[in-house]
Amino acid sequence: MAKLWTGRIAGKTDPQANDFNSSISFDQRLYAQDIQGSKVHSSMLAKQGIITTEEKEKIHQGLEEILDLMNQNKIEFSHEYEDIHTCVEQLLTEKIGDAGKKLHTGRSRNDQVALDLKLYVAQEIGEIQKAIKQVIHALCQVAKANADTIMPGYTHLQRAQPITFGHTLMAYATMLKRDFKRLANTLEIMDECPLGAGALATTTFNLDRDYTAKHLGFSKPMSNSLDAVADRDYCIEYLSDLSIMMMHLSRLSEEMILWSSWEFKFIELDNAFSTGSSIMPQKKNPDMCELIRGKTGRVYGDLIGLFTVMKGLPLAYNKDMQEDKESVFDATDTVMMCLNVLAPMIETMKVLKDNMKSAGQKGFINATDCADYLTKKGMPFRDAYKLTGELVASCIEQGIVLEDLPLEQLKQISPLFDQDFFDSVDLLNCVNQRHVYGGPTPKSVLAQVEQMEQFLANDHE
Ligand code: ARG
Repeated sequence: MAKLWTGRIAGKTDPQANDFNSSISFDQRLYAQDIQGSKVHSSMLAKQGIITTEEKEKIHQGLEEILDLMNQNKIEFSHEYEDIHTCVEQLLTEKIGDAGKKLHTGRSRNDQVALDLKLYVAQEIGEIQKAIKQVIHALCQVAKANADTIMPGYTHLQRAQPITFGHTLMAYATMLKRDFKRLANTLEIMDECPLGAGALATTTFNLDRDYTAKHLGFSKPMSNSLDAVADRDYCIEYLSDLSIMMMHLSRLSEEMILWSSWEFKFIELDNAFSTGSSIMPQKKNPDMCELIRGKTGRVYGDLIGLFTVMKGLPLAYNKDMQEDKESVFDATDTVMMCLNVLAPMIETMKVLKDNMKSAGQKGFINATDCADYLTKKGMPFRDAYKLTGELVASCIEQGIVLEDLPLEQLKQISPLFDQDFFDSVDLLNCVNQRHVYGGPTPKSVLAQVEQMEQFLANDHE
């Protein structure tokens, strides 16, 4: 197949160099965006009188036929095509003849690829946002059913204070809401069209860049042509957003792995989301969670890879930038798989409420409440803290917990202790006493769910 650049460079490309240079094996994924861009570009050329209306009609018809064939997987993306842009243009010219050769007037593959990838990222942001909402929805469902399920809250992975399982799940839902917003913000910043920047310095043809920007769904054209063809910030921002989101999914996965261990036994994953061992008959492994945690590294790799590709490039386009696409595609696929498996895994997991509660009863997670009790009766907090610490130490020695101490013994330690002490260190009361905004009470959890459900319905609370 003849190269686009046969005029200047005579002779055949070395076959290995040809394969090395070719991006069609991966950028074929951009065919729909490439055709969309070409249709709008040719409409603009006709509107400006650069090509005739008949030529435009022929181009559109040819492009639509190619799109159909590609949608039906009927085109073989041979390595002979250097990239998707060459492929579409050559197929078009084979189909419609000379009019096809006019399509590239006033355009370069440099602004073309910048456009295609931008359209692709914008579309995938929408898909990922939908998938994020599915996970948030799943978290809300389980949080609602567990608004009053007591569990120990941890700091340093040591039992700290009593909270509710619903509160924990809504923490993750809240992180995911920010991830959603981060993607929306990226979409807003990238909402400028690179088409018309040409190779780097626009073109001598009288293009209407406002027209192409508008008809491709952008609010305006990019204001500097060098920047337009050299910018991959939007890919890096997209990959950063996805990396942050994967960090959240990985933390949740890590907790689910811990919670489903014999040591915790707070949840049991549905069989549909668990695997066994080839040798140990007792095993039920949380492989899906482990893979989400593991694939987080992969998405970080995509981000760091592209950061590194871009860091030393002089303006404007450099072929190094062909490396952008595989990072973007790989991260997109990975994130979609993770979100899609996580939502049903959360919805179907069994919550072992009794185990959560009894774990809460063992670790003195009501010690702060004991100190608060004495403080409310008039003892300075620092003294109350110290006295409670001594009580805890003596309980540990006796193998009992605070609420097992007889009132007479407590009264000997401090006359401030009374019958109401036992209520104030009851775990459900400990949770319910924390009725500050954003806290773990069942009421607060249900309010958080309600606010989140409003966000799911309208994109804002
Ligand atoms: N395949 C190329 C890429 O993905 C398209 C742009 C090629 N431009 C060029 N001047 N060689 O970056």
